[in-house]
Amino acid sequence: MISRRDFVKAVSGAMAAVGAAHPLLNWAADDSPVVIPGKEGMIVRSARFFDLEMPSEFMDSWITPVPHFFVRNHMHEPSTLDAATWELKISGEVEKPLTLTLAELQKLDAHSVTNTLECAGNGRAFQRPIVPGVQWQKGAVGTAHFSGPRLRDLLQRAGVKTTGKHVMFHGLDEVPGKVPPFIRSIPIEKASDGDTLIALRMNGAELTKHHGFPARALVPGWIGAASCKWLSEIKVLEKEFEGNFMKPGYRFPNHPLKPGDPLNLDDSHPVTALNVKSVIASPADNWTSKSRSVHIHGVAWGGEADVVKVEISTDNGATWQAAKLGRDQAKYAWRLWSHSWKAVTPGDYTILSRATDSQGRTQPANAEWNPSGYLYNAYDRVKIHVQS
Ligand code: MTE
Repeated sequence: MISRRDFVKAVSGAMAAVGAAHPLLNWAADDSPVVIPGKEGMIVRSARFFDLEMPSEFMDSWITPVPHFFVRNHMHEPSTLDAATWELKISGEVEKPLTLTLAELQKLDAHSVTNTLECAGNGRAFQRPIVPGVQWQKGAVGTAHFSGPRLRDLLQRAGVKTTGKHVMFHGLDEVPGKVPPFIRSIPIEKASDGDTLIALRMNGAELTKHHGFPARALVPGWIGAASCKWLSEIKVLEKEFEGNFMKPGYRFPNHPLKPGDPLNLDDSHPVTALNVKSVIASPADNWTSKSRSVHIHGVAWGGEADVVKVEISTDNGATWQAAKLGRDQAKYAWRLWSHSWKAVTPGDYTILSRATDSQGRTQPANAEWNPSGYLYNAYDRVKIHVQS
């Protein structure tokens, strides 16, 4: 895995050497499509910092292979990260501040969590009126096995004082210009949950650089932004951290806004747990089926809640049929689902999917509009043409 800067350097060298018109080389020259080594086939939403979306046709396996797992970076990945000298500091409202090396973390009891990680802005591209930000469609989401020591065990070793109410994570991103560093906090209750990890491994292998090597927070069921990558410091605070990525970033209105209205920061809260949501992996939008029998399948998740039902409509929402849920399941992880449907006549159809979870939440026909397009979860929909 190489950093963007190394990548650009390598590409420039290669251009000078061969001067050929290869897709990789073209990007370095004029911003045409990028291929990022190890992430082939991903939709590149931004190549300045890596923002890579998984095409929905890849949503056909319960565990997302790392090469297909979305990447969301607010700034440059650290260009130099030496596992031998890297350290994690734990400080703030604790009795005994600690510094741990990677080797020390690797020796601690590891716990595994299968988690669906979704970016708060996934689906933003579908908000109307349009909102600024990375125009994610369906694939800023993926499911992986994460493992590493429980954050709770580290906090216990450090001895959290009664004044410690929030836990702040600081990442080692390389900050361009005046952009504030990536620092966010979570409440002590979530930090003390036995499933909140300092993850060192993803799908059985050490984390890759894109996903936070050597260590990242893993805050299961919550928006991806809670899971800070390239961790360097954990600090226990008396109050919620108030930097850029907590306020004004990643906030949701306390009361529904009229589409187009601005957010009043004093009447907002940080975005935490994920919404209930489903995505149709197949058929693809605008697909033409040669047969009247169509196999519809996809994924559905509910953050901290379990998916209990996925329904499909093939008549634009007039009637709904229950889809079959896949066998694989785990707390915080999405469920695969499928539905076999036979069109009565050839023609144009809109297929909708909607999920319901164990908290009684059902995906709405229209998502709650907000100025950053967070937590978009309207019914998923694809249009298809049945030919004969
Ligand atoms: N951690 C750091 N240090 N810097 C970042 O830009 N992006 C966050 C989070 N952790 C980010 C970060 C966001 S917004 C998301 S959605 C997840 O990482 C994405 O994790 P992934 O890139 O491993 O899929």
